[in-house]
Amino acid sequence: MSSFKTIDDADVAGKRALVRVDLNVPIENGVVTDTTRIDRIVPTIRDLSEKGAKVVLLAHFGRPKGERKAEDSLKPIVAPLAKAIGKPVAFADDCIGETAEKAIAALSNGDILLLENTRYYKGEEKNDPALVDALAKLGDLYVNDAFSAAHRAHASTEGLAHKLPAYAGRTMQAELTALGAALGTPKRPVLAVVGGAKVSTKIDLLENLVAKVDILVIGGGMANTFLAAQGVNVGKSLCEHDLADTARRILAKAKETGCEIVLPVDAVIAREFKAGAANEVVDVNAVPADAMILDAGPKSVDAVNAAIDKAKTLVWNGPLGAFEIEPFDKATVAAARHAAAATKAGKLLTVAGGGDTVSALNHAGVADDFTYISTAGGAFLEWMEGKELPGVKALEG
Ligand code: 3PG
Ligand code: MG
Repeated sequence: MSSFKTIDDADVAGKRALVRVDLNVPIENGVVTDTTRIDRIVPTIRDLSEKGAKVVLLAHFGRPKGERKAEDSLKPIVAPLAKAIGKPVAFADDCIGETAEKAIAALSNGDILLLENTRYYKGEEKNDPALVDALAKLGDLYVNDAFSAAHRAHASTEGLAHKLPAYAGRTMQAELTALGAALGTPKRPVLAVVGGAKVSTKIDLLENLVAKVDILVIGGGMANTFLAAQGVNVGKSLCEHDLADTARRILAKAKETGCEIVLPVDAVIAREFKAGAANEVVDVNAVPADAMILDAGPKSVDAVNAAIDKAKTLVWNGPLGAFEIEPFDKATVAAARHAAAATKAGKLLTVAGGGDTVSALNHAGVADDFTYISTAGGAFLEWMEGKELPGVKALEG
């Protein structure tokens, strides 16, 4: 596997450790509504602090594009972060320059400081060497614990790793280990479940998966595009008809590589997209012209569960239906619970991540039962696409 150093290899006592974390968490009215990403970085921060490092946290928030937008300040995250770590966290209003330098100079060994949003500077997303230098001046070593931002080649996620002795943090290590077990050197058969609304956002991913996995379940809105490409009339369902050729190409490639494709055979249909809408189960070949598919039907769920029973490894991205409106969450919940039970029974290694996936698994009440749930959205997808992540690559020695 990869050859990066971890914080076990670092001598950190009395040193200024610049630690890149992902604090891009959901905030509503100034309150963090999901602390998963905060909770995940605690081990790295505590560990460095206990070893006597001066822990200086770098992070982005939102997409302020180089402007100091108040709504993108990291300040509201200080309190929940301190609570999660169980130690005070200081805050500096700027991530470089005199403000940052003074705040760092005031730290004792073991103290923790969060610097303001790195994306307040345009140079962050440009990976501008001037910003990299200004950041590098603040530290003696660099730790990257932000796997979920590792698909960005930014100053704080990539550039800095070339300027200072660089180490992978605990979460970065955990993510890479789990993902390696799922697609790097997995126990076969490997099953991928890919759902979500659109094929257009997941073409590269599907192409990569059909070459790597043994069984591919295609669900959610994107399954409609595959069904339509095979001549099925999907009525008013969400469907990217212009991607019929792409869908057929992916199916042909699957045939070549011997990847079994599982598409829905029945569907839950409704006439309106809203919670509690009147619905019925029909065969996918019998979708009325005025109806839309909002979930996979029970026979389809049986087929997904049968695939789960055959598999030794499962990688999951995206829901199988409109899980955010009941009762169209049924297929996603049922399959997620089946996978969770197989995991608990020790028969299956399960890794999930990307966008809606974590909230779908939380909704199913199984998030704690999967082997590993990635906190990454875009980075998880790029990794599933087989792409090299710049933030990870920069750590490799
Ligand atoms: C995320 O939330 O997925 C990461 O923090 C990356 O954020 P970005 O998509 O704005 O680069
Ligand atoms: Mg994002």
